[in-house]
Amino acid sequence: MNEERRLFNQQALLLGVMGDPIKHSKSPIMHSAALRETGLEGSYVPLHIVPDQLEEAISAIRTLGFRGVNVTVPHKVKVMEFLDEVDEGAKAIGAVNTIVNDNGRLIGYNTDGIGYLRSLKEEAVSEIKGRRIVVIGAGGAARGIIHALLAERPESVVIANRTVGSAERLCAEWNNLGQLIACGIHEVDSHLASSDIIINTTSVGMSPNIDEVPISPELLPEGAVVSDLIYNPLRTKLLQEAEQRGCRIHSGLGMFIYQGAYAFEYWTGQPAPIAAMRQAVIEVL
Ligand code: ATR
Repeated sequence: MNEERRLFNQQALLLGVMGDPIKHSKSPIMHSAALRETGLEGSYVPLHIVPDQLEEAISAIRTLGFRGVNVTVPHKVKVMEFLDEVDEGAKAIGAVNTIVNDNGRLIGYNTDGIGYLRSLKEEAVSEIKGRRIVVIGAGGAARGIIHALLAERPESVVIANRTVGSAERLCAEWNNLGQLIACGIHEVDSHLASSDIIINTTSVGMSPNIDEVPISPELLPEGAVVSDLIYNPLRTKLLQEAEQRGCRIHSGLGMFIYQGAYAFEYWTGQPAPIAAMRQAVIEVL
């Protein structure tokens, strides 16, 4: 093996994303652009892992010498039991989306919530403190976001969910972190008029069901920020309706980019080339 080849093998970063399904993931495109832009040797590959192969696949991260992987639906919760260590934030959220292989030691992080918060603050509201927030949904995505939001000390967070029991359980679990109020999705109307930020964390409105909205948009208050975690389509029906009512709108693209950027920084120790990552994703949307 010549010297150049040897160096390549030593330094090439092996990265990927595990999920089921995985073929629609835009992460390979985004991270490949990041590797190209930073000039790092390496590859980021989609890995189709079905649930009963997850433990083996995680163990193979060490065997194959992957520096890290992202983990997506449906593995974000289950994967935690196969790791050597889970970061405090990810533990509280109860889900991992990023794994770092630190010389054979696998450490799990959650970059979804902090990625969302960074995007919201940069693109829509600079100050979360004192704001009244309504979150629609109480699943895994909502947990990451609510956890990150509570650290900014909003005045209140209403969690409106189709299954009210899940919203109530989440409020009870985190009632020491801030003022949390649970309600059913059909009871959300009474909270909308006084809210500053309304966030959809459900998949309602995602392609191909682009004509659906999670709440009736008539009561969205003018001037509020309406944010949707969905980035396909970039402007969901909820965001279109919100814009027509004089709301500021915020799409899920920034969250997707920043959760990836934080992961990239964990793996490489280098600042992520955010503009190149965003451009690569926009081109394929
Ligand atoms: P994710 O990780 O994307 O949050 P999840 O944990 O399965 O996925 O949570 C999905 C969330 O979207 C839940 O809050 C779910 O409501 P339920 O708890 O009642 O299931 C919500 N959701 C999904 N489809 C919905 C729909 N058609 N209408 C309203 N809420 C919906």
